[in-house]
Amino acid sequence: MDIIIKENYDEMSKCAADIIANCIKSKPSCVLGLATGSTPLGTYRELIKIHREEGLDFSQVRTFNLDEYLGIGMDLSKPYEEDQSYARFMYEEFFKYINIKKENIYIPDGLTKEPEKFCQWYEDMIKKAGGIDLQLLGIGGDGHIGFNEPGSSFSSRTRVIPLTEQTLNDNYESFYRKAKIKKEDMPHFAITMGIGTILEAKQLLMIASGKKKAKVIARALQGPVTTEVPASALQIFNGKVTVVLDREAASELS
Ligand code: PGA
Repeated sequence: MDIIIKENYDEMSKCAADIIANCIKSKPSCVLGLATGSTPLGTYRELIKIHREEGLDFSQVRTFNLDEYLGIGMDLSKPYEEDQSYARFMYEEFFKYINIKKENIYIPDGLTKEPEKFCQWYEDMIKKAGGIDLQLLGIGGDGHIGFNEPGSSFSSRTRVIPLTEQTLNDNYESFYRKAKIKKEDMPHFAITMGIGTILEAKQLLMIASGKKKAKVIARALQGPVTTEVPASALQIFNGKVTVVLDREAASELS
């Protein structure tokens, strides 16, 4: 496992974007696994910059997002600040600025009427695409990757999962409070790629920033490998793992 420690969030973001850009340059038709949340925002911003200034070409790139809330779909009639869907996030923060083809974008469908069937289809599409070349990951305060909450099996596949209290609280603080959406109206379930799905990617790239991630990063990277800390699965990953942290997120590592 390569752990890269950068001075701050912007440097972390630049470093992660360069790793993704290099993957695209070496394989223009690569398959990227993408993540949402506040952490990857800077990475997407840097990739947009590389696209604009250096012509980084996304025309053959295919993407699979890790997760989406169940019961939620992109609603372009709402202002962005009130649209909870990860599909909207990806569109507003990344896809609308790059030359990716719409048909090459895959995001779990939160409005599916047949979640089990959909999850199987999503797995099949990842396989059909030849598997994920590079999977970008954030880490939740409870150690989740995607929405694989503590207790998720390391062999889990794409499925519906209930969110933990800690994730609900984190989500409330990062989005719902500002959007003036009540806690009880927040989505309590999500569709997520499984840990087993994630571990089949050829390369993993985890990013984390800030003091509030320091403890969970130390547990994930240096603590025991346990399903209680889903991100500790990175320690048993067979392929290349790169973790890019800022100084604060790295501050509890020994
Ligand atoms: P964050 O979320 O980037 O908003 O901290 C990370 C995650 O929950 O995976």
